Amino acid sequence: MSYKTLNIEVDGDGIALVTIDLPGKSMNVWDADLMEEFAKWVDEFVADDNVKGAVITSGKASGFLAGADLNMLGSGSVGKGGKATKEDQFNSAFALNSVLRKLETGGHTAKALTKGEAAAKPVAAAVNGLALGGGLELVLACHHRVVADNPKIQLGVPEVQVGLLPGAGGTQRLPRLAGLQNAAMLATQGKPIDPNTAKGQGIIQEVVPADQVVAKAKEWVKANPKVAQPWDKKGFKFPGGGGAMDPRAAQFFMAANAMAQRETNHNYPAVRYILSCLYEGSIVPMDTAIRIETKYFVKLLSSPQSRNMIRTLFINKQAAEKGEQRPKDVPPSALKKVGVLGAGMMGAGIAYVTAKGGMDVVLLDRDLEYAKKGKGYSEKIVEKGISRGKVTKDKGEALLARITPTTDYNDLKDVDLIIEAVFEDPEVKADVIKKTEAVIGKDIVFASNTSTLPISGLAKNSERPDQFIGIHFFSPVDKMPLVEIIPGDKSGDRSLATALDYVRMIKKTPIVVKDTRGFYTNRVVPPYLGEAMIMVQEGIKPALIENAAKTLGMPVGPLALTDETSLSLGHMLMTSTKKELGKDYKPSGNEELLEKMVVGLGRHGRKSGGGFYEYPEGGKKHLWQGLSEHFPVADEQPSLEETKERLLYAQLIPAAQCYAEGIVFDPQSADLGAIFGWGFAPWTGGPMSHIDTIGLENFVRKAESLAQKYGARFSPPEKFREMAKSGETLYGRKAA
Ligand code: NAI
Repeated sequence: MSYKTLNIEVDGDGIALVTIDLPGKSMNVWDADLMEEFAKWVDEFVADDNVKGAVITSGKASGFLAGADLNMLGSGSVGKGGKATKEDQFNSAFALNSVLRKLETGGHTAKALTKGEAAAKPVAAAVNGLALGGGLELVLACHHRVVADNPKIQLGVPEVQVGLLPGAGGTQRLPRLAGLQNAAMLATQGKPIDPNTAKGQGIIQEVVPADQVVAKAKEWVKANPKVAQPWDKKGFKFPGGGGAMDPRAAQFFMAANAMAQRETNHNYPAVRYILSCLYEGSIVPMDTAIRIETKYFVKLLSSPQSRNMIRTLFINKQAAEKGEQRPKDVPPSALKKVGVLGAGMMGAGIAYVTAKGGMDVVLLDRDLEYAKKGKGYSEKIVEKGISRGKVTKDKGEALLARITPTTDYNDLKDVDLIIEAVFEDPEVKADVIKKTEAVIGKDIVFASNTSTLPISGLAKNSERPDQFIGIHFFSPVDKMPLVEIIPGDKSGDRSLATALDYVRMIKKTPIVVKDTRGFYTNRVVPPYLGEAMIMVQEGIKPALIENAAKTLGMPVGPLALTDETSLSLGHMLMTSTKKELGKDYKPSGNEELLEKMVVGLGRHGRKSGGGFYEYPEGGKKHLWQGLSEHFPVADEQPSLEETKERLLYAQLIPAAQCYAEGIVFDPQSADLGAIFGWGFAPWTGGPMSHIDTIGLENFVRKAESLAQKYGARFSPPEKFREMAKSGETLYGRKAA
């Protein structure tokens, strides 16, 4: 039998070396071909008396096996969406589980194995690189597991991050090897661990030098001709307790459930189902346990949460890799050296991510001390990375060597791109643009990181407005994945292509947005934060507001976020908008509170001593008690549900407005911007996806009722009313 995805060599002792090597791919994944061929090989292996055992390894330098091909999940060919019956769905999702079970039992029944009437042929995994999801699950189904000694190798089950669970035995073999607690941590958080940690937890047996993994695995196979997994042996016990009626297990599940409830508010069914798999699976034998796992897996596969999260992953990949919005006829930009102007908070971060992306950076400030301090930011990150073993010393030093601090404009002579992050002052920016254009090449793109000044206005200071564009980062630059790209009214195709190419090189997610006040995210976030402030003014308890937002899946409450971004910034924006718009200014309703907090009480936010919260030195932040003196708590409080709804729609409405007004060009951009820009709950797939999930008609109805109760700011955009009427959807799918 010959295979496309497997290479099989049987040695003189009858030991098969099975090398997984997907043709034309840089990494192995469980795709349809591998699934089919692996199942065939297992059948052959079990039946062929000439083959005594096997070692499974990978032919890729990049790793062992990275899990399931998400294209397959996205297209619904696993667990089939649409018309497939429940039974079809179960069977297709159970396929890999049954193959792996056959591998570990050698095709014998569990009963025969436990009684010692039969034994399986030994199979060892020789793991030379990362093994994630279905990749690790294959490793777990082997009887012996040898991994290369490299702290960078990731072993884990990240499925929860796309709203799924490890559905190829992971929720059953992990607790049987590492105990319930370790398994619960690995599967509900989805974070990978390194080989030595995995060995410490009992998940793998050997960590050996990379060039010995196969030899060591073979050695074990030869020394152990007849085997069975521990759970197929008589008297098996879960490490650390577990199994039917074990009081420690019961205690553990109570605590784990409470924690899941607290941390995710059960917004993620995946976490709940993983715990159910662990619990229900721990009181039955393996053959039943994997069926339980598949049952929950299929439920998740058809849940809107998982569908949304998988889709977000795809849209993000597309935005980052393909760049639908990149003008096609512009050749790829060769960016080797980038000039970053202004080495303050933003410039320093931009310099770091640019150097990390492999480009040289000229970091210019008005004072050499400031420029050096800006580079110091990278030095700190690199030092930390080295001390934690995340970056090698060589790589870290090379990164730093790419950043040159300066005050001399002549150093910008041979750069391929400029990113400006000086003070948010039109005059300072105009001066810097002029000085830079005097030295850089005639065809070099100039990008501004301004957060409030219109790009078209700034471009007026440029001699080459077609090469002028906005590249808007978020703070902290090294952590925030989103970048907004803002073409001005004269920006040409080459500036847009260059900006997109650059963002791809620094591995961030770009969205292209229209040149309007606040662009996209800064149009949506202020009304949301504003709503929380209006609620405080109305006497709603701050703790209720914060809690409601977290229950929605936001990483922090809106009052904490306001403190982070600073109340004075909010106040400044309000004052400047009022001034600019004059009589056209529409009050947001939180003006009184901002005025009182900033001007009256001097509470500016976290960096300047406190805002809605107090930040005691060395202690934990807590809500500021004094607030109720100025904004008394009302006797009657709204329900959690109502508070949640208001905070949700305070994001949905402005996001919908941005889409309706063409500030973002498609629902995908609106959703990516929300998830990666301000932490909109990922399981919703973003605000547009969420509106689709609840249905446009329901969205419009709810928005109208909120508008009646709280004001016109909740009115749904006309375009959405029309879409609801004509039965259209944003992503072209019906409500769940
Ligand atoms: P910052 O005040 O921390 O840094 C500005 C830097 O520019 C300072 O190091 C300053 O010395 C330098 N600078 C000022 N005038 C200069 C000149 N003529 N020539 C050379 N260097 C000069 O400010 P930050 O926060 O880094 O903001 C920079 C830009 O980024 C602004 O346009 C801001 O609106 C924008 N931005 C800020 C965000 C934030 O969260 N702080 C987010 C996104 C954009």
